[in-house]
Amino acid sequence: MSTEQFVSAHLDRYDNVIEPIDGWFERDNVAAMALISKAQKESGVVGDIVEIGVYKGKTFFFLSGLLASGERLIGVDQFTMRGKDLLPEVKAYAETACENRSQCTLLKCFTKALRDHPLPSANARIIHIDAGHEHDDVYFDLATVYRQCFPDHGGVIIMDDAMIQGFPGIQSAIYQFILTGPGNDLRPFLMTRGKMYLCRAKDHHHFKSVVAEMGEVSVRNVLDVSVLVRHHNIRKPEPEPIEILL
Ligand SMILES: C[S@@+](CC[C@H](N)C(=O)[O-])C[C@H]1O[C@@H](n2cnc3c(N)ncnc32)[C@H](O)[C@@H]1O
Repeated sequence: MSTEQFVSAHLDRYDNVIEPIDGWFERDNVAAMALISKAQKESGVVGDIVEIGVYKGKTFFFLSGLLASGERLIGVDQFTMRGKDLLPEVKAYAETACENRSQCTLLKCFTKALRDHPLPSANARIIHIDAGHEHDDVYFDLATVYRQCFPDHGGVIIMDDAMIQGFPGIQSAIYQFILTGPGNDLRPFLMTRGKMYLCRAKDHHHFKSVVAEMGEVSVRNVLDVSVLVRHHNIRKPEPEPIEILL
């Protein structure tokens, strides 16, 4: 299967199964995450996938389709929004959208609980952080997963809403973690409309070339590296037109 066919299969699954789920996850990030996961598998990187901030599972259920045998997907969320319990909807969506179900775990807690009860993974090849959006929350979540389960080689951390004007604390937390915190070897390699993709500096060239396959990128300098920036979401193809003649 060519890379184009591979991405297109994931986009089809997104359009048919994931897109109807309430939440925040777009086609651009489907392509980026699928390409990253494929490249990891091709270079022998094995590990779990972690999502901090699941909401109703839109990204979580997509990620479930990227698991290889023996890997786990672990999601963490308080699963309550403005007093409403999210779990009934999460369970209903799981019926149609969760793949590799026996490998998936959801933990209901505030992320602060991870201080005393570490994540049940010491090695996560993909980590998606999308819980609290204020500086201190983001710094805590990033520092916690980095310490508990980010591998020495081949892992990727994806920060949601890092490019969104309404949440300036996300960028400040990321750069504080890189510039003055323990994450001094993390570098961004891709920015989509919503998300910033980070890896260790030694993996930077590799992952940048992996996501360059998406095309339509600008190249910008951030810290001491160049980063690919995508300005547009991948558009859903228009349905074939039908002309009614009679
Ligand atoms: C933007 S939503 C996540 C969207 C989701 N990733 C998706 O694909 O649709 C943020 C989620 O983070 C959770 N959250 C926010 N702060 C949290 C915290 N401190 N601990 C646990 N969950 C938190 C909220 O309950 C909410 O479900």
